[in-house]
Amino acid sequence: MKKKSVPDSYECPACGYRSAKWMGFCPSCQEAPEGLVPVVSASSRLESLLSEGDGTPRALRMEDVGKVAVERTSSGFREFDRVLGGGFVRGSFILLGGDPGVGKSTLALQAVAHMADGHKVLYAAGEESPEQVRMRYDRLGRKGGDLFILPETDLEAIVREVKRLSPEFLVVDSIQTVTMGADGPSSGSVGLLRESASVLLELAKRASVTVLIVGHVTKEGVIAGPRVLEHLVDTVLYLEGDRSHPVRLLRTVKNRFGPTRELGIFEMSPDGLREVENASSFFLEGRKERLSGSVVVSSLEGTRPLLVELQSLVSPTTFPNPRRVAQGVPVSRLSILAAVLERRAGLSLSSRDIYVNVAGGVSLEETASDLGLVLSLAGSLKDISLSPDVVVFGEVGLGGEVRRVQEMESRLTEARRHGFSHAVLPASGKKYPDVSGLSLHPVREVGEALELLKKLG
Ligand code: TYD
Ligand code: MG
Repeated sequence: MKKKSVPDSYECPACGYRSAKWMGFCPSCQEAPEGLVPVVSASSRLESLLSEGDGTPRALRMEDVGKVAVERTSSGFREFDRVLGGGFVRGSFILLGGDPGVGKSTLALQAVAHMADGHKVLYAAGEESPEQVRMRYDRLGRKGGDLFILPETDLEAIVREVKRLSPEFLVVDSIQTVTMGADGPSSGSVGLLRESASVLLELAKRASVTVLIVGHVTKEGVIAGPRVLEHLVDTVLYLEGDRSHPVRLLRTVKNRFGPTRELGIFEMSPDGLREVENASSFFLEGRKERLSGSVVVSSLEGTRPLLVELQSLVSPTTFPNPRRVAQGVPVSRLSILAAVLERRAGLSLSSRDIYVNVAGGVSLEETASDLGLVLSLAGSLKDISLSPDVVVFGEVGLGGEVRRVQEMESRLTEARRHGFSHAVLPASGKKYPDVSGLSLHPVREVGEALELLKKLG
C-alpha cells in the first residue's frame, strides 16, 4: 500500500518563505495571492517511496540492451565522412555553420550531389535561384541524379514538399532565410530560428529524413546567430577559412554520432572543394629550409596528428607596451609562454614585440604545441634556425616544466612518415614508442629544450 505523503511545511511559491502552518498570504514578500503551498520534506518523501511494494527491477543489464543500427550514407568525401563520424546518419539533424562566402553552399551541394546518385535529395534554396544552383551544379561537373531544388523559404511549403516527395535527405540553405508565415515568430528573430529548427528536427526524427541546415555565423554575431541551435541539433560542423587562402577546414564542434574536434581539410578550386588527403605535406609545402623562429609542431586534430609550421618573429619594440600578435595560437597562451621564458630561462622578451603565425590558416588550440612555440620564440630571439627535420611537441607548465601529451606514438609515426629524423618531446619516464629512423630528444624543462636548439640547429 502506498503511504500518503503528508506536507511537512508550507512554502511561498514566489520567495520560498517557509512556515509550519498554512497561511493565505506570504508574510515575507506579500506576493502569494493564492497562499502558501504544501511541501513534503525529502526524508518523508523517500520514506513513503521506500515503503511501496518492491516490484521487479526495470533497469536493463547492459548486455541485454539492443544495439541501434545506424545507417550511414557517404558524402563522397573521405574528409567529410570522417568529420561526421563515418558518413551521414539517417534521420540525423546537422548544422553546417560558417562565415558568409566561406563555401558552405558549395560543400553542401557537392555532398548531396554525390548522394543523389541512389538517394532522393531535396535542396531548399532560399538564397539562390534554382538557375544559380544549377550553374553551380554544372560547374561541379555533376549530371542527373535524384536531386530536387525547391526555391522556397516558407517552412510550411518546405515541410509539405517533404511529405509529397519523401526524400531521404533535406538541405535547408540557409536557416536564416526560413520564414514561418504571419502568425510565426517575427523574421530575423532568435525565436524564429529556434522555432523553425525545432520543426525541422521533429521532421528529421519522425520522417527519418536526414536534415542539413546551413547557417551563417559571423565571428561577432554569436548572439543572434545559429549558435543558439547548437544544443538542439545532433551534429554541429563549422567550415572555416580565410578569404586570402584556398584552405577550408571543416570542424566538428558537437557530434552525437562520432568524435568531436575532428578536422577535415579541403582546398578551394574553380570547380568546387577538393579534399586534401595528405594534410601534413600540404601544410609543410612551401616551407623555407632554414628560417629562425620556424618550428614544425605536431598537433592532434581530432583523431589525427597534423604537422604544421609555426613561425615567430621577435623584434625590439617601438611601442610603450610591446605587441603580442598571434594568428593560429591563442594570444593568451603566447603571453603565458613568453612570461615562462622570461622567468624560467632568462630570455628578455618583455621589451620586444612578438608576432606568431601558423602556416595554412590552421589554428592550434592544443597545449601540445607549447614546446614548439617556446622553441620558435627563442629561435627568433637568438636568431638560431632549427634544422628542418626536427618535429617538436609537449605542453609547458608555468614552472617551465615540460609535460606529457596524448598520442605520442601516432605523432612520432606521422613525423617519420614525412621524413623527419628528430623529435623533441616530453621526458615521460615510461618507455618511448619505438619509431625506427627517428632520434628522440626527451626534455624535462624548457632550459633543456633551449640547449637542444643549438645542438639541432
Ligand atoms: P559559397 O558556397 O556560396 O559560400 P557560402 O554558402 O558559405 O556563403 O561560396 C562562395 C563563393 O566561392 C561562390 O561564388 C563559389 C566560390 N567557390 C569556388 O569557386 N570554389 C570553391 O571550392 C568554393 C568552396 C567556393
Ligand atoms: Mg550559401
